[in-house]
Amino acid sequence: MTKSGFQYHKDTSYDRHNMTGHYLDWQNQPGVFKRYPGIVPVLLPQDVHSPEKKLSSLIKGTAGSAPLRAVSFEDLSLILRLTYSLTAKARHTGGDFYYRSVASAGALYPAEIYVATNGINNLDDGLYHFSIARHSLSLLRRGDIPVPAKKTTQPSSITTPILTFFLSAIFFRSAWKYRARSYRYHLLDTGHLIENLFLALKALELHPALSLDFDDPEVNRLLGLDQTKEVCLAVCHVQGTQAYEDKKTPEITELPEAVKNASRVAEKETDYPAVRAIHEAGVNVVSQPESRPHMIHELGLTVDKWTGIKPPDTWSETLNYAEAVFHRRSKRNFVQKPLSRGCMTSLLDGLCAGCFGPDGEMSNNNQSMCTGFLAGNTEGFDPGLYLLDTSSSSIGMVGPGFFTERMAHICLDQAWLANAAVHFLFMSNPDLVDQVWGSRGYRYAMMTAGRLGERLYLMATAMGLGCCGIGAFYDMEASELLGLNSASRLLYLVAVGRVKQGI
Ligand SMILES: Cc1cc2nc3c(=O)[nH]c(=O)nc-3n(C[C@H](O)[C@H](O)[C@H](O)COP(=O)(O)O)c2cc1C
Repeated sequence: MTKSGFQYHKDTSYDRHNMTGHYLDWQNQPGVFKRYPGIVPVLLPQDVHSPEKKLSSLIKGTAGSAPLRAVSFEDLSLILRLTYSLTAKARHTGGDFYYRSVASAGALYPAEIYVATNGINNLDDGLYHFSIARHSLSLLRRGDIPVPAKKTTQPSSITTPILTFFLSAIFFRSAWKYRARSYRYHLLDTGHLIENLFLALKALELHPALSLDFDDPEVNRLLGLDQTKEVCLAVCHVQGTQAYEDKKTPEITELPEAVKNASRVAEKETDYPAVRAIHEAGVNVVSQPESRPHMIHELGLTVDKWTGIKPPDTWSETLNYAEAVFHRRSKRNFVQKPLSRGCMTSLLDGLCAGCFGPDGEMSNNNQSMCTGFLAGNTEGFDPGLYLLDTSSSSIGMVGPGFFTERMAHICLDQAWLANAAVHFLFMSNPDLVDQVWGSRGYRYAMMTAGRLGERLYLMATAMGLGCCGIGAFYDMEASELLGLNSASRLLYLVAVGRVKQGI
């Protein structure tokens, strides 16, 4: 059974000559909205104005620089709306289908949000599940919630968290289509959601601290999850104004069976042991690894010359941050028109932001993966494979060539990808990640890739460009095209470029 991230990644590779057929059981399609029968929802205020802020200033600004402040019920509503909301409707024969503010592989939406509140006006303290369908909260526990502290350093120790968000994934939602490979999407999708949450908290000038390191069984019990079906993947504390008291943490009691049963989303759920095995393999947290890799040097790729990125003073944003969140969609109608140098350097600028920021930004997770790109039709960049060094905001060419068409072929022959101006590549050496962080490191690498993917989607939307994440590719063919060493792999690809207007 899978014990390491690298083994899991290898075991779930796609191979052009060995693809097993899989039909989708539409009768047993997983529900995309979690329900708690018998719990009366608390409706969140609807008409709260979104902040009119530029996406560039949020991405590049440091979180937690404003004075600590109280958080209102309206603020909480807005945070959740900006993080995870229904943004578009499609009519299907089986009924209406809703798209969301975050991208999700196959639009299967495995992610759920829970929030523990402590001192929000007009809302009882407690632990709630957030219902995206009704923009409401379901109370699961009342009163002071024993919020688990971060296991290593504890930034939230300065003050008591006023809010603690928990992001989970329901296995079967993505496994219904992607089977054993689905854990990749649980992690990437959760990364997308983390980025949206972080930007919302920054937009409201709050003090967030992200933790991917917590006691899995304890947190899952707190949330009342059936751990064989749904697991917490990320926790985000928001500091309040009350001084931190190191209280004796009360024992976490089991929630009723009816609450746990809500993790079931289909009549007949197929269990994919490989998914549970890789998740369970990551239960241990390696708190202080002795040395951390600089991933761009661990892929077997070499760069002769690094050049600093010179982004324009202002990005050419036509939509503000909130508009970008609500208008974000996957676009595949790329046209063969060049991406301007200004847009390209702005995208690179955004990808570098926060990567070496204080704890709670990307901190210890960024070393687990790194970013590169295939420049195709991009003004001022010779076509080729490049690496991005986020610590020095510089790029270096690994080798020249027109690779985007070959990469489109590798991405399960999604031919439209060849028209995208640039393919951003999130890559890692998962073998090394296993050695440094144990199997939990795979979570860091994949969730960080997802975060940066969501950031690209929002930046592209704000600049009037198209964007689409790609998790489906023949893994070894991708490694070979990129020239990665035998321990390294492509984790995720995000295509960006100009698209047909008016669609
Ligand atoms: C992790 C991930 C992998 C994805 N992989 C693909 C892919 O291989 N091909 C594709 O066309 N779209 C892919 N997408 C885009 C999703 O299909 C899209 O986000 C989903 O249908 C929801 O639509 P929206 O992004 O327009 O809201 C991916 C998205 C994510 C987040």
